[in-house]
Amino acid sequence: MSRVAAGARVLALVAATVVLAASPACVQSDARRPGSATMSPQTRAMQRDDAQNPAMLWVADGEALWSRAAGPAGRACADCHGDARASMRGVAARHPAYDEASRRPVDLGQRIAACRQRHQQAGPLAPESHERLALEAYVALQSRGMAVAPPADPRLDAHRERGRALFHQRIGQLDLACAQCHDANAGKRLGGSTIPEAHPTGYPIYRLEWQSAGSLQRRLRGCMGGVRAEVPPYDAPDLVDLALHLASRAAGMIVDAPGVRP
Ligand code: HEC
Ligand code: HEC
Repeated sequence: MSRVAAGARVLALVAATVVLAASPACVQSDARRPGSATMSPQTRAMQRDDAQNPAMLWVADGEALWSRAAGPAGRACADCHGDARASMRGVAARHPAYDEASRRPVDLGQRIAACRQRHQQAGPLAPESHERLALEAYVALQSRGMAVAPPADPRLDAHRERGRALFHQRIGQLDLACAQCHDANAGKRLGGSTIPEAHPTGYPIYRLEWQSAGSLQRRLRGCMGGVRAEVPPYDAPDLVDLALHLASRAAGMIVDAPGVRP
C-alpha cells in the first residue's frame, strides 16, 4: 500500500470511530487483552512453546552474561544479585521505576545498563544491543506469570501523567494519537495487521518482521514513525513516560515475556 493510501485509510478508520475515542473507561475493564490474543494460532504457539520461541535465544545469552565477570573489578551480575530466579523475580513487573541516582524513572533496559556502568564500571550497554536485550529478556523472564505491578511511588506521578497526556496527544503528519488506534480502534484491521491494545506485558519481544528481539522503546518508536511523527532517540524521557502510562493501563495483567509478534 502506498503511504498516501495508508494514511487515507487510517484517517477514514479513525474518523468513523472518533466518538468511541471519547470513552476513556473501556481499556480498564477485565476485557483487556494482551497483544498475543489477536495473533495467528501459529505465532501464538511459537510464543507459548519455549523450544520454538526465538526470544529464548536472547534469554539463554542473558543467563550466560549474568554470571560473566565484566569491568576492572571483574564482577558479574551474579556476584551482587545471586540467583536471578530469586533476586529478579517481579523486577520486570514493577518497571519502569524511579532511579535514585538519575532522579528519573528508568525502564528495565536502562536499569540494567545503569547497573553495568555504576556497579561493574564496564562499557555501556547501548540500547538494542544484543547484550542489553539478552539481559533484559533474562530478567523479564523471572516475572513471567506475575501481575504487572507499577510502583505506587509519588515521584513517578508527574511522569506517569505526562505519559498519559502523550498517549492522548495527536502527533505526526497523520495527526493521530496513540489512543485513537489503541483505545478506540483496538481489534480492528489496519493494513495487514490487527491493532493491539498496546499492553507492554511481553517485552522484550521477538518480532518476526524485525527478524530480531527488540525492546518496548523500539516498538513505540515504530508507531511514532508510522504516523510520520518526530521519533525521539532511544532512552528519551518521553519513551519512558509513555512506558509508565502503558504499565499503569496494564496493571494486573499477566507478564508473558518474552513475547513473539508478527
Ligand atoms: C495508526 C494507528 C496507530 C497509532 C497512532 C499508534 N499505533 Fe501502536 N500499533 C499499531 C499497530 C497496527 C500495531 C501492531 C504492530 C504492527 O503490526 O504494526 C501497534 C503496536 C503497538 C504496541 C505493541 C503491542 C504489543 O502487543 O506488542 C505498542 C506498545 C504500541 N503500539 C504503542 C503505541 C503508542 C505509545 C503510540 C503513540 C505514540 C502508538 N502505538 C500509536 C497502530 C498504531
Ligand atoms: C557491585 C554490585 C552490583 C553488580 C555487579 C550489579 N548490580 Fe544490579 N544492583 C546493585 C545495587 C546496589 C542495586 C540497587 C540500586 C542501585 O543502587 O543502583 C541494583 C539494582 C539492580 C536492578 C533493579 C532491581 C530492582 O529491584 O528494581 C536490576 C534489574 C539490576 N541491578 C540488574 C543488574 C544486572 C543485569 C547486572 C549485570 C549486568 C547487575 N545488576 C550488576 C548492585 C549490583
